[in-house]
Amino acid sequence: MPDFEEIAAIDEFGTADRLEVFIDDTPALLIRINDQYLAIEDICTHDGQPLTNGCIEDGAIKCPRHGARFDLVTGKALCMPATKPIKTFEIEIRGRNIFARPAVK
Ligand code: FES
Repeated sequence: MPDFEEIAAIDEFGTADRLEVFIDDTPALLIRINDQYLAIEDICTHDGQPLTNGCIEDGAIKCPRHGARFDLVTGKALCMPATKPIKTFEIEIRGRNIFARPAVK
């Protein structure tokens, strides 16, 4: 199982609800919902669009290009045109720093 790597500090969020990061060389989106932190692969599995600016609602992110939605916890594609899941990451908070590693499925 891969080790956790430090990817960001909580203070980097400012007032934003998301941060673009790299986890294990994968472009990823770190998302803050209230006090919960989640991280997903920042590439839509339909046609490679970054999900960076996608609308986040009801625990899912919507691809800004063709509208596929992905569950933020499981990565599952919730609607067409995407059929494959995105990667998700386990998050651990240590002090004011955020660590992540690929989630085991
Ligand atoms: S590239 Fe994301 S839905 Fe098509």
